[in-house]
Amino acid sequence: MRFKGSTIFVTGGAGFIGSAVVRHLLRDTHARVVNIDKLTYAANPNSLPGAAQNLNYSFEKQCICDGAGLRRLFEKYQPDAVLNLAAESHVDRSIDGPGEFIQTNIVGTFTILQEALRHWRTLSPEKREQFRFLHISTDEVFGSLGDDGFFTETTAYAP
Ligand SMILES: NC(=O)c1ccc[n+]([C@@H]2O[C@H](COP(=O)([O-])OP(=O)(O)OC[C@H]3O[C@@H](n4cnc5c(N)ncnc54)[C@H](O)[C@@H]3O)[C@@H](O)[C@H]2O)c1
Repeated sequence: MRFKGSTIFVTGGAGFIGSAVVRHLLRDTHARVVNIDKLTYAANPNSLPGAAQNLNYSFEKQCICDGAGLRRLFEKYQPDAVLNLAAESHVDRSIDGPGEFIQTNIVGTFTILQEALRHWRTLSPEKREQFRFLHISTDEVFGSLGDDGFFTETTAYAP
């Protein structure tokens, strides 16, 4: 199976999509999974049945806006990859309360990128080459597609 000996950070791993990613990694790979989640109203710890008993699983209650806290986790676990799914995701809520969205989606994303870069700089050339930071966003950032075609990772943003 894949990812034997690898440690993967999944932020927002108690959320709707993050929990599915954690379940998939624990079921279908050998990765050691560290779920980093602030446990907001959107989190559902019940979405990870049996995870706590899995030796490949760790949970850290942590906000991605807290650089010092993230740094401690990077130093503790030495991850090979980060899947960033922590977000304020319910668009309608951003109209009444945009502050949390600015914090998590902008400041938090910047903070975890910064701490991932700090960690990456400590790695050997080989490990640097293999390290991945995968930011989960939405196809909405690319705008509308029209009748056919497809977006790629190099498509310009046009939200
Ligand atoms: N759900 C969808 O249909 C869908 C579709 C396209 C893209 N996405 C994107 O996927 C990502 C995840 O979406 P989702 O539906 O799983 O969201 P969700 O709201 O269900 O879960 C978000 C998780 O992030 C955690 N979180 C929030 N702020 C945090 C913080 N500051 N620090 C740490 N953890 C924090 C929450 O506690 C929660 O567990 C988002 O970026 C979203 O835009 C979702």
